[in-house]
Amino acid sequence: MIKRTLKRVLSLTPYRITKRAPQEHVNPNFDFAEDATVRRIPNTPYTVGFSVGASTIVEALVSFERDGATLSVGKRTFVNGHLVVSNSIEIGDDVMIAWGTTVVDHNSHSIRFSERSRDVEDWARGAKNWEKVVSAPVRIDNKAWIGFNAIILKGVNVGEGGIVAAGSVVTKDVLPWTIVGGNPAKQIRTLGKHER
Ligand SMILES: CC(C)(COP(=O)(O)OP(=O)(O)OC[C@H]1O[C@@H](n2cnc3c(N)ncnc32)[C@H](O)[C@@H]1OP(=O)(O)O)[C@@H](O)C(=O)NCCC(=O)NCCS
Repeated sequence: MIKRTLKRVLSLTPYRITKRAPQEHVNPNFDFAEDATVRRIPNTPYTVGFSVGASTIVEALVSFERDGATLSVGKRTFVNGHLVVSNSIEIGDDVMIAWGTTVVDHNSHSIRFSERSRDVEDWARGAKNWEKVVSAPVRIDNKAWIGFNAIILKGVNVGEGGIVAAGSVVTKDVLPWTIVGGNPAKQIRTLGKHER
């Protein structure tokens, strides 16, 4: 009975679930700790790096956008939402990233129309000109906590223990042990010693 119910639930799941991620089943460039849980293994045509540390759970959808993109996730970390990597996204140890969060390390298109006018046609033939696209690595340091539906844009560093309020759009660095919120996110307050 239990077996039949489980089979039915799995058959309704829209994406591939992998409880553990045995090394032999994934891209040879991926490096997952034995006890890491990666729910959705990205299927990418690009040569990329993806490492996940011990006791970490990655529920997030991961989109690699080009060759050389790297994503590293530390230990005892939980990542949900969507990570879009063309450059580098580095997530530390003991971090929590809630549902609906999007982390993107680039602008996707040029802000100049003349430089993005052919982007859709290029896409249609599987090409992309990255030269005019601003991109910069994102780093989310140890012990940070990102609330649901936050957006973290290119070049941002969330410092150790930094907290991003739900629904924020983060365009600038978050200092360690600081809460930010809003759009664009601003400093709300610094966490006291007793809150660390
Ligand atoms: C709007 C955008 C393209 C501008 O990029 P940019 O020209 O490189 O802008 P910068 O990062 O230099 O930021 C310029 C200012 O706008 C602010 N800003 C940037 N993006 C912002 C956003 N999404 N919301 C609020 N403020 C924002 C920055 O804080 C900065 O403020 P300041 O002048 O007070 O310092 C970019 O920030 C963005 O939103 N990128 C995501 C694009 C996207 O949605 N791609 C998905 C696939 S199509």
